[in-house]
Amino acid sequence: MNVLFLSPGYPSEMVWFAEGLAAVGARVFGVGEAPVATLPERARRALTAYHQVPSLWDEDRAVAEIVREAKGKGVRFDRVESPWEPMVLLAARLREALGVPGMTVAQTVPFRDKEVMKQVLDAAGIRTPRHARCRTADEIRAAAQHVGFPLIVKPIAGAGSADTHRVDDVAQLETVIALTQHVPEVSVEEFIEGEEFTFDTICAGGRIAYDNICWYRPRPLLARTLQWVSPQTMALRDVDAPKLAGGRAMGHAVIEALRYTSGYTHMEWFLKPDGEVVFGEIGCRPPGARTVDIMNYACDFDAYRGWAEAVCYQRFSQPIERRYNAATVFKRAQGEGRISRIEGLQSLLHRYGPHIVQVELLPVGAHRRNWKATLMSDGHLIVRHPDLATCCEIADRVGTDLQMYAS
Ligand SMILES: Nc1ncnc2c1ncn2[C@@H]1O[C@H](COP(=O)(O)OP(=O)(O)OP(=O)(O)O)[C@@H](O)[C@H]1O
Ligand SMILES: [Mg+2]
Repeated sequence: MNVLFLSPGYPSEMVWFAEGLAAVGARVFGVGEAPVATLPERARRALTAYHQVPSLWDEDRAVAEIVREAKGKGVRFDRVESPWEPMVLLAARLREALGVPGMTVAQTVPFRDKEVMKQVLDAAGIRTPRHARCRTADEIRAAAQHVGFPLIVKPIAGAGSADTHRVDDVAQLETVIALTQHVPEVSVEEFIEGEEFTFDTICAGGRIAYDNICWYRPRPLLARTLQWVSPQTMALRDVDAPKLAGGRAMGHAVIEALRYTSGYTHMEWFLKPDGEVVFGEIGCRPPGARTVDIMNYACDFDAYRGWAEAVCYQRFSQPIERRYNAATVFKRAQGEGRISRIEGLQSLLHRYGPHIVQVELLPVGAHRRNWKATLMSDGHLIVRHPDLATCCEIADRVGTDLQMYAS
């Protein structure tokens, strides 16, 4: 099993997927922009070979170069994989160019283009927000009339809530038109009030082998607007809860409509106060910001290896026992510059002991990260508990009682 794996050293999570592939016996051929010597040691150990390319972003050039290299070395690939969102189309193009089975370009586009995505799902009868694709200011104004206020303006191929704005009236619309001028194409969407959840899967051979639902506390747009918030992503133990049934059923219908074959998917959906379920978006990659880790902490299995087995051999053989709710709590320091002190950690560890399973905070002296640019912010804790209310309480305590300061 020869797997061509794009960008094994960046972002840092990619290393764990590369290790998953090696662990199930695949030979992993890495391709990336970084010189081999700068790859993390663990990535290098997982790889059979590595080829450096000048750019993965210039897709035409990358495809030509990788095909030439593969032919030159006489290597035949069985899979092309990348769990990193910006690489999923390049992976599909490479499959086609190299004659490798898996998701094609046509199958991948609906996961990347938020308008094509919603058109395919509308045709399948799935409830999406009213929507329109816009390239010019006038198209945005016209779409606003059709969609109505409040609405949301966001990039067609966005990530991390970047350039995403809620708009309540005509005056705000003009402000947002000015703010998004650098975005070539936007989606204008009906604004959906309510709670936000994920529906994540590992598919194997065209069927869902494992699914997961996370609850965002609070909703991401709010988390991204208010710096004092410690955003939580909570993997829910009881995915059979009646409250989640509509979203889970929608998730299954979406996977079927998009004819997804093998690997991760990451869908987001809304639950309105009146109980209606509305589709948000879907990617053909794992959720980021350590969400695969909370899946692991929720089930005590290895979802990196599970993914690798699914893409290589179309099966998921680890038992799925949902033992815990597990939450990542992201922290943002008060003040700018370097982290100067961290308060409250010891008493939290003392109080909640075994329920705090991971602590990864920036150390004193480190420069703060840009909390708008990365959900990872200034670090995170992972907590878990079999009981949801207790897990929420612990996660909330991490939000309030752990404080980081910068100066
Ligand atoms: N139609 C909508 N109604 C209400 N809120 C929305 C809508 N579309 C987007 N949002 C808010 O903006 C956030 C980001 O939007 P979306 O998930 O579509 O973009 P993204 O940048 O790809 O996301 P991610 O942060 O998951 O990478 C959503 O999680 C949600 O909070
Ligand atoms: Mg999103």
